[in-house]
Amino acid sequence: MKAIASIGYKVHFGKNVFKELNSFLTKNKYSKYFVICDQNSFHNCYTELLTNCKKLQSAEIIEIDPGESSKNLDTCAQIWETMLELNADRNTLVINLGGGVVSDMGGFIASVYKRGVDFINIPTTLLSMADASVGGKTGIDFANLKNVIGTITQPKAVFVNINYLSSLSQRDTKNGAAEILKMALVSDKVLWKRMKSDYELKSIGEYLYRSVELKNRFVKKDPSEKNVRKALNFGHTIGHAVEAVLLGTDDELLHGEAVIVGMIAESFISYKKKLITKNDLDEIVSCFKNTFTLSPVHPQHFTAIDLLILNDKKNSNGKVLFSLLDKIGSCKINQIVPAILVKSSLEYYNSVVHDKN
Ligand code: GLY
Repeated sequence: MKAIASIGYKVHFGKNVFKELNSFLTKNKYSKYFVICDQNSFHNCYTELLTNCKKLQSAEIIEIDPGESSKNLDTCAQIWETMLELNADRNTLVINLGGGVVSDMGGFIASVYKRGVDFINIPTTLLSMADASVGGKTGIDFANLKNVIGTITQPKAVFVNINYLSSLSQRDTKNGAAEILKMALVSDKVLWKRMKSDYELKSIGEYLYRSVELKNRFVKKDPSEKNVRKALNFGHTIGHAVEAVLLGTDDELLHGEAVIVGMIAESFISYKKKLITKNDLDEIVSCFKNTFTLSPVHPQHFTAIDLLILNDKKNSNGKVLFSLLDKIGSCKINQIVPAILVKSSLEYYNSVVHDKN
């Protein structure tokens, strides 16, 4: 059993994290437990949780529809109403059992309910293990903007049950691997070198652990993302906009898939701004082409993507600010990027997708 110490809480890793969960629940005397999950995590993970954690037999279960389209104010309102009806007091524990949608929204719900109740995350997807469950970002989508309403509130503990990894589909594994590759690109050349030739992601458990260690360093240095933590947004300015524009269409992408689009486009921008070499760009593109199935972004979406980028949370004083690579394993924050370069980067992305080599 391994654990990473974060800001006042631990991220527990292992095949039997329930032992740690049981001692956490024994140590902290909560009045009520609310498990927020979606249909998938309820179906695949709830019975195991209950079998191993008898204290949770009295827990109230709140099940939401899976997917990003649930991550909104209406769902939050329904959950707050349920919590009020069931007399959830300030000594309630919210347990987020699920992927990024569940932990982002469940964390937000807990962070403002009666001015804040405790919550813990039990991530069930690789994406949420690698990113969403650690670091305290909570939030929902609003006005077609991703995560635009939210708080930074740290969970009381995170329990990463690595047994879940073996039950993930290939698509879900790759979805999470995108965030781990991002961590490698912005902060660890050694991890990048290992991952770039492991197209089948055979050692994903090791990469995951390293990636959470790296993420945690950024979070500890800069919990409220005023400075160095912004590096973790590499690939996300364009990635979030692409994800939002395609949401609900036939071409809808998972978060990690959109971040791959964003990382290719933003690596191109890094190259155009002379921050990385053509060799670096080619190395990044070749790894992504070998590991992922890439789909083009139709040019009809470019204007909408551009408009969303103008509203990005990282912008300041009307300037569109990106986190770009300045070499493989290192990132430069607060980089001004003109709209024309964003358009060229999406055209470059499409040329990469169409190039058969
Ligand atoms: N998802 C990036 C961060 O937590 O800062």
